[in-house]
Amino acid sequence: TLRSVVIGCGHSLPERVLTNAELSTMVDTSDEWIIERTGIRRRHIAAKEETTSVLATRAARAALASAGLSGPDIDLIIVATATPDYTFPAVATQVQAALGSHTGAAFDMQAVCSGFVYALTTADKFLAAGAARRALVIGAETFSRILDWTDRTTCVLFGDGAGAVVLEARRGDGELTDRGVLSTHLRADGRHLDKLFVDGGPSATATTGHLRMEGKEVFRHAVTCLAETIEETFRLTGVTADQIDWFVPHQANRRIIDATARKLGIDASRVVVTVEDHGNTSAASIPLALATACADGRIKPGQLVLIEAMGGGFTWGSALIRW
Ligand code: ACO
Repeated sequence: TLRSVVIGCGHSLPERVLTNAELSTMVDTSDEWIIERTGIRRRHIAAKEETTSVLATRAARAALASAGLSGPDIDLIIVATATPDYTFPAVATQVQAALGSHTGAAFDMQAVCSGFVYALTTADKFLAAGAARRALVIGAETFSRILDWTDRTTCVLFGDGAGAVVLEARRGDGELTDRGVLSTHLRADGRHLDKLFVDGGPSATATTGHLRMEGKEVFRHAVTCLAETIEETFRLTGVTADQIDWFVPHQANRRIIDATARKLGIDASRVVVTVEDHGNTSAASIPLALATACADGRIKPGQLVLIEAMGGGFTWGSALIRW
């Protein structure tokens, strides 16, 4: 069997940092409220020229460098994003051009905050089927562009950034001890558009629109849906919570992360949390957290890593990876 092995990761964050203190001069909020309800202390905000494709390309270059590869070594690029530079073409094609990689396929995936899990799952299917050899899977967002900066219930929650991993198809025995993506689970329930959406788009309004969210409703669904998909992962693979070396959840809110880990029985010492410094970067949050925990030496080859995310749609999913 062919397994998709993670052979590199990297990230990119805009230089500009927006603190809670600065936000509280813009809307009626406070550092205490934001930390207590979300765990967020600061977030990065992209400058005008730091578009999603620019951040995605920087993260991709970092991931390629860590794998000792360059653009032409890649034959599949998937960018998970809900904030592309343009309505079309896909950000992935811009990244491809910037990296000097002109063969293979490149496309974007739109599953909002679950985008990285959807993109990783898709890339894994390509590699496992022998349809590509090496894939760049990127999560990149500039949510600052679609926030209503007068709405304190949403503008304090999000940030900009990008993260990327390089996957390579390698032969394995199909064992749980083999390196690679071991198991992926995707779900969606399209009845919940009104709870989390952007009120603009090319076809409905011919505008870009702003993010709208019923935070309490999203919170309630998130914990239930995430626990359900992870329990399915455990059931189908036979892996148990105590075998997970690192739990790397989508970084939306500290309380959702803590509640999910507690529900699953994963100790807080094995949870990677970056929401403090990054805010919710949607599809970028998991690869940003993975790159952070690889760079600081927490995640090591051979370890068992569990990722999960939930986002607009609703969409949600999880993946188990032997790093
Ligand atoms: N500063 C100060 N007060 C605020 C702020 C703010 N930034 N935002 C809201 N409030 C007020 C509200 O107006 C409300 O006041 P009221 O009681 O006078 O009406 C009060 O604080 C409590 O508001 P709630 O919405 O009940 O607060 P809650 O504890 O639910 O926290 C939050 C809100 C943080 C949005 C929470 O519901 C949450 O995290 N939800 C999940 C959102 C999320 O993670 N979304 C992303 C997941 S999917 C994805 O990543 C796209």
